[in-house]
Amino acid sequence: MATVIDGKAFAVGLRKKIAESVSSLVNEHGIKPALAVVLVGEDPASQVYVRNKGKQTVEAGMDSIEHKLSIDTSEEEVLSLVNELNNDPRINGILVQLPLPKQIDESKVINAISVEKDVDGFHIENVGKLSIGEESLVPCTPAGCIMLLKDHFGSLSGKSAVVVGRSNIVGKPVSMLLLKESCTVTITHSRTQDLPGVCSQADILIAAVGVPEMVKGDWVKPGAVIIDVGINRISTEEGKTKLVGDVDFKGAMEVAGAVTPVPGGVGPMTIACLLRNTVIAACRQHNLDVPEAIKTF
Ligand code: GUN
Repeated sequence: MATVIDGKAFAVGLRKKIAESVSSLVNEHGIKPALAVVLVGEDPASQVYVRNKGKQTVEAGMDSIEHKLSIDTSEEEVLSLVNELNNDPRINGILVQLPLPKQIDESKVINAISVEKDVDGFHIENVGKLSIGEESLVPCTPAGCIMLLKDHFGSLSGKSAVVVGRSNIVGKPVSMLLLKESCTVTITHSRTQDLPGVCSQADILIAAVGVPEMVKGDWVKPGAVIIDVGINRISTEEGKTKLVGDVDFKGAMEVAGAVTPVPGGVGPMTIACLLRNTVIAACRQHNLDVPEAIKTF
């Protein structure tokens, strides 16, 4: 049986280090980092994420500023709010919750955020910096995946990594980070031929497709480490619903060396990495070194 990777416990430890870093920023430099979150509309999943982000930001000792706008807000109004936040020296990080309503061009909004305050790491300049290995703000879920892998393996150098999914939020950035760690990286997607065969070569298998339980146990190389990024709500036979990942957890546990569960795997790492990015952004904006305790890679 595989080991279950406890992302929830790892995130608790990381948040503790972040809170300590925040405390010394406040006490030694009089800087209290602040994260602004913009939510447009009332998507229930987004509301839950935003509430959790706000709560954990405050628990880490930082300021959380939430801007909740109605579903019919215009693109100009969102861009004008982003501009205000860019120019507000008290704000260190800006996150616009996605998805945005259809009248708003997401990439226009993302690229309007100041590069230094882009704690999601989605701005085209941060994406470019990540791809050429320059210092940048790194997307949160991919950063969380790498931290869990490095905690498990130590070095990832020379390992064969297969990423299932090519999204801008997870698949592409996590592939760049794996490459930076000197893995041999294969990015797969819906047109990949013999996906089970490709996956079965992986020492590290990252599933980020959004298809419930798609990756089966017999796609897995014995002893491989599986990072399941999927969060899918499905109906059970008893008429209830439950959360599952993109990996058939039971099947994978019989073959793999270690697997992240859903929930309790990568999910809790995402917000912890967002808090980490907010501290990093605040330090860089004040020309201070990033505290060693949170400089995990
Ligand atoms: N919606 C789902 N995941 C994310 C994320 O990581 N960042 C933002 N801004 N929106 C999201």
